[in-house]
Amino acid sequence: MPHIAIISASVRIGRVSHRVALYFKRFIEENSIGTAEILDLNAYQFPVFNERLKYQSNPTPQVLEFADKIVKADGVIIVTPEYNGGYPASIKNVVDLLYAEWQRKPVGIATVSDGNFGGTQVITSLLFSLWKIRAWVITAQFPVPNADESFDEAGNATNKAVTDKRANAYLKEMLWCIDAKMKMQG
Ligand SMILES: Cc1cc2nc3c(=O)[nH]c(=O)nc-3n(C[C@H](O)[C@H](O)[C@H](O)COP(=O)(O)O)c2cc1C
Repeated sequence: MPHIAIISASVRIGRVSHRVALYFKRFIEENSIGTAEILDLNAYQFPVFNERLKYQSNPTPQVLEFADKIVKADGVIIVTPEYNGGYPASIKNVVDLLYAEWQRKPVGIATVSDGNFGGTQVITSLLFSLWKIRAWVITAQFPVPNADESFDEAGNATNKAVTDKRANAYLKEMLWCIDAKMKMQG
């Protein structure tokens, strides 16, 4: 079974997008799609980037743990809010921190906002940075509009049938990429 790491990018007090990370974890596990864990950037509280991990002489155990979890994940879902038409600094912080760890890693973007457009303005900028670092960004999108009404605090979708259908289609693309990569590696 593939292992999916879900990066919950918001470190904002009272954040809402974390609900979407909770939803994905449960959806993946309950449907036996794979194993899943949340890499919570609010729990890690990484300092603002000052050098890539490979050039750090004395990396913290938390940075090493995060890097190891990205390496071991067969796929990564980034759940990110939209702030002023872009992604929060917290996610760029960890994109820049690693290097080889991202390369050819199947990565899905899930954008969240409390407006009608589901944070979709994040996609092009985050996609470009992930492409630059040679991650393998899946083509499926998972925009979440009206986040506070769409999910409760435990990550339950208000409209479960519709949300599950979308999640299934989204994860199908990720699984295709994971499977293709595994075949290439023999
Ligand atoms: C600094 C800031 C900027 C925001 N800019 C946008 C925006 O450009 N577009 C949008 O749809 N929502 C915007 N929002 C609303 C967020 O989408 C909403 O607060 C959402 O819940 C953020 O995710 P979070 O709660 O996990 O931090 C902004 C919120 C903050 C705090």
